[in-house]
Amino acid sequence: MEQPPTTLVSAETPRGEVALRERTDEAGEIVHELVVAGVFAMDSVDTTTETALARRALAVVDSPGSVLVGGLGLGYTTLEVLKDKRVGHVDVVELEEDLVQWARLALAPTMGLVARHPRATVRAGDVAELLGREGDRSWDLVLLDVDNGPGFLVHEENRALYSRDSLAAALGHVSPGGAFAIWAAQREPALLTTLTDLAPTEEIPLEVERDGHRLEYALYVARPR
Ligand SMILES: C[S@@+](CC[C@H](N)C(=O)[O-])C[C@H]1O[C@@H](n2cnc3c(N)ncnc32)[C@H](O)[C@@H]1O
Repeated sequence: MEQPPTTLVSAETPRGEVALRERTDEAGEIVHELVVAGVFAMDSVDTTTETALARRALAVVDSPGSVLVGGLGLGYTTLEVLKDKRVGHVDVVELEEDLVQWARLALAPTMGLVARHPRATVRAGDVAELLGREGDRSWDLVLLDVDNGPGFLVHEENRALYSRDSLAAALGHVSPGGAFAIWAAQREPALLTTLTDLAPTEEIPLEVERDGHRLEYALYVARPR
């Protein structure tokens, strides 16, 4: 029988509670849940769209030697990136310092694999701030899964990340031949328009069936010329 979740660890931050929870599903499988800013962010039940973010973006880059991932979460996107042997190193920037510590302690297996991986570096920070800086370094692939998308924000502070200026700055951190991809919890027509204005962009809708509901997520993959 499905059990209610147990909180493994939690912390209070200026943005609200961050927590890692665990439960057993009807099949007896362990499910991990992540809460950020006091709201449910994700669980490990169906991570096909998180891994699709990595796969679909990697597929359009010939030499993705260096990758930046904004938002560690439970680590599924980054772990998928690390499966690609063309990737030499992944930098992961995660807003919640507590989550970075829990990953180093491997409190959920996927996070632990990422934090201890020899080709990955996980550090606490705001990826919006990093990408907003001019003249800093660039990556062959920049992946963002930090929020639900501009139409449905968890962190109001992330709104600026999806503005034209921030997107242009982020594209400036992509090496020639590289790509920039964003995960969203729904189609985001305004984001598509802005990105397309800056670089050729593909919208990739992803359907997921969950608890009897059909949900439509979307990926935006931009390839600066
Ligand atoms: C939905 S989770 C990411 C899930 C991840 N793709 C996976 O496969 O597990 C979003 C993550 O982004 C982090 N985050 C939110 N805003 C951020 C920001 N501005 N910079 C870096 N990380 C951020 C959250 O704390 C959370 O860990």
